[in-house]
Amino acid sequence: MQMPATVVIGAQWGDEGKGKVVDLLAERSDVVARYQGGNNAGHTIVAGDQTYALHLIPSGILYPNTICIIGNGVVVDPFVLAQEMDQLEARGVDTSNLRISGNAHLIMPYHTMLDTQTEIRLGKLSIGTTRRGIGPAYMDKAARIGIRVQDLLDPSILRRKVAIAVEMKNDLLEKVYGQPALNADEVADQVLAMAPRLQPFIADTSLLLDTAIRDGKTVLFEGAQGTLLDIDHGTYPFVTSSNPTAGAACTGTGIGPTRIDHVLGISKAYTTRVGEGPFPTELDDAAGRHMSEVGHEVGTTTGRARRCGWLDLVALRYAVRVSGMTQLGLTKLDVLSGLPEVRLCTAYRKPNGEETADFPWHQSDFHGCTPVYETLPGWDEDIVGVTRLDALPARARDYVERIARSTGIPITLIGTGQGRHEVIDNVEL
Ligand code: GDP
Ligand code: IMO
Ligand code: MG
Repeated sequence: MQMPATVVIGAQWGDEGKGKVVDLLAERSDVVARYQGGNNAGHTIVAGDQTYALHLIPSGILYPNTICIIGNGVVVDPFVLAQEMDQLEARGVDTSNLRISGNAHLIMPYHTMLDTQTEIRLGKLSIGTTRRGIGPAYMDKAARIGIRVQDLLDPSILRRKVAIAVEMKNDLLEKVYGQPALNADEVADQVLAMAPRLQPFIADTSLLLDTAIRDGKTVLFEGAQGTLLDIDHGTYPFVTSSNPTAGAACTGTGIGPTRIDHVLGISKAYTTRVGEGPFPTELDDAAGRHMSEVGHEVGTTTGRARRCGWLDLVALRYAVRVSGMTQLGLTKLDVLSGLPEVRLCTAYRKPNGEETADFPWHQSDFHGCTPVYETLPGWDEDIVGVTRLDALPARARDYVERIARSTGIPITLIGTGQGRHEVIDNVEL
């Protein structure tokens, strides 16, 4: 299918396999742009015997002719970005086609410190963040005391801004968190030391994207995190500090909504979540352990075990709605092989006993709900690496068709393994 401008977005709590799908589609794309989040993301690509875990650089980087954009909506840790570029170069990956928006905000050393300190202070109520400074960086952006990528090009402006920010952060670090104060000049020196490495890549990425779309190029917008981690539409406060949902692809890159043609949602064939927060279909039984072990459910960024559970169709339909998804990619179907039965959550029972097929808008209904399941027979056949729909066992196909019927949009891609080409692509179920 020709997909001129497509947003690829997580339909769950992140780690749906977006990196793998973006890499797959990037083979036929001219531009891949990240639009939100930062190095809290961990996008894994398995190409032959090589595994890449990308945190900040878009998942199109393995193709030498694909332009990779870090849009204005991303928060950029300059140290992590330089390191990620160096590591890719050392492995023979050409990063010269990377472009970074001058309007993107920088994650400063005090942001990572404050992320950790806030989590410690929250104690039992902590979010379980990745401690990469994401929340504090977006706070400063909204408070208009952020440092932007373009400030790297003007040391005197950067120093002035850092001086103001550090003065305010020192109050917090010293008086609230009992930590040593920072020296503004040292912080500015550290960040400016990254300028020569990053400067050649800083560009007007909004203009670049507009030109690419006008020229009929194929553009992918790569979401990080997922719908339920969205700061507005997710399970607040257990969310990230940006909007992973599709609307942010526009604000996070500087193009208009009329330029987007498709929204491809990515969902696992089951559900996982890293960090704290409610998770109605979470399992603490043999099926959950099966998903965790067979699916190697360990976080790419923090190495934490991911919580596992059945696929939640209530949440998936909600994700389809809030991002206007036009099609779905269902990953990790292979992981479910060998389970005696598979379950789909089709509705929630709210604390007052009422059943709802719609995602509850009130947090207490969501926190207190119990899943209503439909049970389907499992399949024993190993389907790792299957690339043709007719090679899927009937029961696996029935499971996928049941999901497509429930969401009302077609499933156009089915993941059958970690490898780049372990996928049933170009289908419509
Ligand atoms: P992302 O954050 O959405 O890019 O996902 P992650 O990379 O954090 O986590 C997804 C994990 O599942 C990675 O280890 C992928 O290599 C792996 N993966 C993706 N698709 C499939 C699939 O269809 N089958 C299997 N077995 N693994 C997959
Ligand atoms: P990708 O792009 C899964 C989770 C954290 C925590 C919450 C807030 O790989 O799907 P943050 O550091 O963003 O302030 O943490 O969000 N989280 C993710 N979970 N995948 C991710 O990214 C995530 N990025 C953040 O675990 O619960
Ligand atoms: Mg991930």
